[in-house]
Amino acid sequence: MANPILQVDHLTKRFGGIGAVYRISFDLQPGEALGIIGPNGSGKTTLVNLITGFVKPTAGRVTFRGREITNLPAYARVELGIARSFQMVRPFYNLPAFKNLIIPLFSPRVGKRVGGKSGNRDEVAMHLLEEVGFERDSQVPYKVASSLPHGYLKRLELARCLALEPELLILDELFSGMSMSEVASVLPLIEKIREQGTTIIMVEHRLRELFRIANRAIVLNFGEKIAEGKPEEVIADEQVRKAYLGSEDA
Ligand SMILES: Nc1ncnc2c1ncn2[C@@H]1O[C@H](COP(=O)(O)OP(=O)(O)O)[C@@H](O)[C@H]1O
Ligand SMILES: [Mg+2]
Repeated sequence: MANPILQVDHLTKRFGGIGAVYRISFDLQPGEALGIIGPNGSGKTTLVNLITGFVKPTAGRVTFRGREITNLPAYARVELGIARSFQMVRPFYNLPAFKNLIIPLFSPRVGKRVGGKSGNRDEVAMHLLEEVGFERDSQVPYKVASSLPHGYLKRLELARCLALEPELLILDELFSGMSMSEVASVLPLIEKIREQGTTIIMVEHRLRELFRIANRAIVLNFGEKIAEGKPEEVIADEQVRKAYLGSEDA
């Protein structure tokens, strides 16, 4: 096997008395697509925050391409090629949609390349918005983010990630708050990104869509990993079914 692109080793996070993530370990090979599922409050977003540097772990390690990044700040992880979307969208609300993408396009990671010619960034931003389904010849890309419906803001999250040309793309419930047709429009894009070799972590409640992308899944419950394997297999697991009981999605 190739060297893992990501190694998560006994990651643990406690908030006061609450154990949000407890001793979670897994490896990710380059090009894999890992699904993370589990009931609300089971620690999925906290795990994403630990991998991306938005919270510091109580214990454990994160290694990216063989380099320990456990204590690296979030922006430095972005520079290494890790991009994430937020479950609770975080656009610059006062900026037009396309201007939201100018900021990642100025990052050192991609800035030199796309900034070569003046005006190039606007063009790249428009193209990215088109890719996630913004109507190109409409006013939508020029509207301030605060005026856009939620489904657009979720897709803006994806476009912001793609602007960074990530090696590891982490999507935290990207599809929640999207209409069926919005989901249907971005799913082939994510499949294409996976086929191009980008490694993906996908936290997702929509299992049918998750199965289209993920080759492997882990299941969290009360901060612990309770199952790991092929997505269809973990879903059939008795313990997993019990964890999901009472949840609206399974
Ligand atoms: N910043 C925080 N401060 C205190 N508790 C938190 C914080 N973030 C998450 N938690 C708690 O950690 C647990 C896991 O939350 P979260 O990772 O958001 O779960 P999920 O994404 O699976 O719904 C929950 O009990 C949540 O209330
Ligand atoms: Mg969450």
